[in-house]
Amino acid sequence: MERILEPELMDDPEQALVYARADFEQENQGFVDRFREYFPEFTEGHILDLGCGPGDIPVRFARALPSCRITGVDASEPMVRLAEEAVREAGLSNRITFRCERFQDLAGVSTVDAAISNSLLHHVPNPLQFWHKLRLAVKPGSPVLVMDLLRPESPEEAQVIVDRYASGAPDILRRDFYNSLLAAFTEDEIGSQLARMNLTRLLIDVVDDRHWVVSGIIH
Ligand SMILES: C[S@@+](CC[C@H](N)C(=O)[O-])C[C@H]1O[C@@H](n2cnc3c(N)ncnc32)[C@H](O)[C@@H]1O
Repeated sequence: MERILEPELMDDPEQALVYARADFEQENQGFVDRFREYFPEFTEGHILDLGCGPGDIPVRFARALPSCRITGVDASEPMVRLAEEAVREAGLSNRITFRCERFQDLAGVSTVDAAISNSLLHHVPNPLQFWHKLRLAVKPGSPVLVMDLLRPESPEEAQVIVDRYASGAPDILRRDFYNSLLAAFTEDEIGSQLARMNLTRLLIDVVDDRHWVVSGIIH
């Protein structure tokens, strides 16, 4: 099945709210735990979260790594408003800040000590822009962790995954999940993107039936 693009930004207020209220505890905490397992020596510094959405992952990182500060970037205003609210409620406004901006427009080279991104890449029409920006943003020697959905073989298989993992979820969330699976990349496509961007030191791992993870140190 060919990739079918979905809208880049999640900027419909209702869509953002439904996403913010969904239970991504297992996935998001798993992402934080994976970062700590892969990079146990990373305990302080500035982390950049590309496509941070409603801020749950920055909050989890800030709690897990108390000497880190985090900048979340998302170009959806409703998402950034929800993220700011979540951070205020968590009492972490002194260590987490947000920028409402497309990651493609971020200025600054070698400014952060680590970069993370969960579930952004499938939104992006040109994935090479993402890898390019990721590499530019971090200081040499910085860890990166990127996770996203895997595109299934067919629309029918995508529907099976939605039914398996989001059976009782609101319709908007099920629709977005389905469209995201169709817009996602295969493991081979991610491998080609990394090769084209000279990022072959990063490792790709398929961690379950619907996610890939790319990790490593950017030199
Ligand atoms: C599926 S959500 C993931 C949110 C968060 N990372 C998480 O795992 O909960 C993807 C987010 O990426 C944002 N996004 C998409 N394209 C973007 C871009 N070019 N620049 C910044 N944010 C973008 C969307 O607005 C949306 O909030």
